[in-house]
Amino acid sequence: MKSGNNILITGAAGQLGIELTAKLREEFGAENVIATDIRESEKIAESGPFEMLDVLDKNHLAEIIRKYKIDTIYHLAAILSAKGEANIKKTWQLNVDGLLNVLELAREGLPGDVRRRSAQSAVSGTESEFETDNDSCSNAGTDSARHSKSDSIFGSNVASTANGRVFWPSSIAVFGPDLPRKNTPQDSPLNPLTVYGITKVAGEQWCAYYHRKFGIDVRSLRFPGLIGYKSEPGGGTTDYAVDMLRSAAKGHKFKCPVGPKTRLPMMYMEDAVQAALDLMVVDPERVRIRTSYNVTAMSFSPEELHKAIRNHVNGFQITYHPDQRDAIAASWPESIDDSPAREDWNWEHRYDLPSMVREVLHKLNSPG
Ligand SMILES: NC(=O)c1ccc[n+]([C@@H]2O[C@H](COP(=O)([O-])OP(=O)(O)OC[C@H]3O[C@@H](n4cnc5c(N)ncnc54)[C@H](O)[C@@H]3O)[C@@H](O)[C@H]2O)c1
Repeated sequence: MKSGNNILITGAAGQLGIELTAKLREEFGAENVIATDIRESEKIAESGPFEMLDVLDKNHLAEIIRKYKIDTIYHLAAILSAKGEANIKKTWQLNVDGLLNVLELAREGLPGDVRRRSAQSAVSGTESEFETDNDSCSNAGTDSARHSKSDSIFGSNVASTANGRVFWPSSIAVFGPDLPRKNTPQDSPLNPLTVYGITKVAGEQWCAYYHRKFGIDVRSLRFPGLIGYKSEPGGGTTDYAVDMLRSAAKGHKFKCPVGPKTRLPMMYMEDAVQAALDLMVVDPERVRIRTSYNVTAMSFSPEELHKAIRNHVNGFQITYHPDQRDAIAASWPESIDDSPAREDWNWEHRYDLPSMVREVLHKLNSPG
């Protein structure tokens, strides 16, 4: 499957969004990638179309989908793990209701999706399952095509009316402390301790449900901690790694909120962006897992990251002040098994710890 031409990104001003937007604009043309967020980002607005959009405003989301004839959505807007604990209801609302708005509008029909047009003859009218106060004029792209409802509660007869491509990131936060922490398998029981983890488990199940019942081509990755240098991290537990690299580049001491030996799975942002793109272009038959794929690249503890940084920054100093992020990290796996992703769609990472540290420090120290 080749991604279409009219792509919408939500939460595009975030850590992942900035880099994914740049890559998608490079691949598909800047004018075809519509970046949205509730905050402005000069970097994104200067390089292509940008709209202010709160994903909880379903009418506005529908309007933007219609306006740009969107066929593919990368839905990134979320509240992350550490921030989520400070506002549990808001985290549930944004992470789950926001996703449901996207999935419902995909179900109603993304106007740019060519497969939707070919499926028109096979469909009949249906109403949104999740009507809200602002739903009354939210029929993005429903001018002519709508999906048939399934006769069966498991919806197996609607997969042929596949409509709307959606990418949605899950997280290693779906895992809880009841699992073996090393090489945690794809199909482990999911008993997270954080509200963020609960929203990601629910989100994975909603993705699988919309795929199974309504044929939505939604694809997902369970990202580990993502390490980028282009923006400030947004409130995740693994942000300490980005903060440590930034402190080292500035020649500052670093106060680490995670204990020295707490190992976590991680990935350089360039690999994360590539993983999303790779998953989105493979044929649907190869996407066997419709909850979310484990993906990983490396695992390290703060102590190991510190040592890797000292190979480049002599005398870089760090002190440890574990806070709630250490407790969250301790409930997650040290490493995860991503062999299904490697087998199904040839996932391969490029960066390990030494090459990631070298690259990030080089970029942070390069002017412009
Ligand atoms: N960063 C990581 O290490 C990591 C790891 C695993 C999964 N993920 C997932 O990747 C996605 C992106 O993460 P990120 O690191 O870029 O997060 P981030 O916090 O940097 O960015 C999230 C963006 O969402 C925006 N946003 C917040 N509320 C919104 C709303 N109501 N409507 C629209 N936009 C809104 C924010 O302004 C922000 O720009 C999230 O779904 C996150 O759960 C991230």
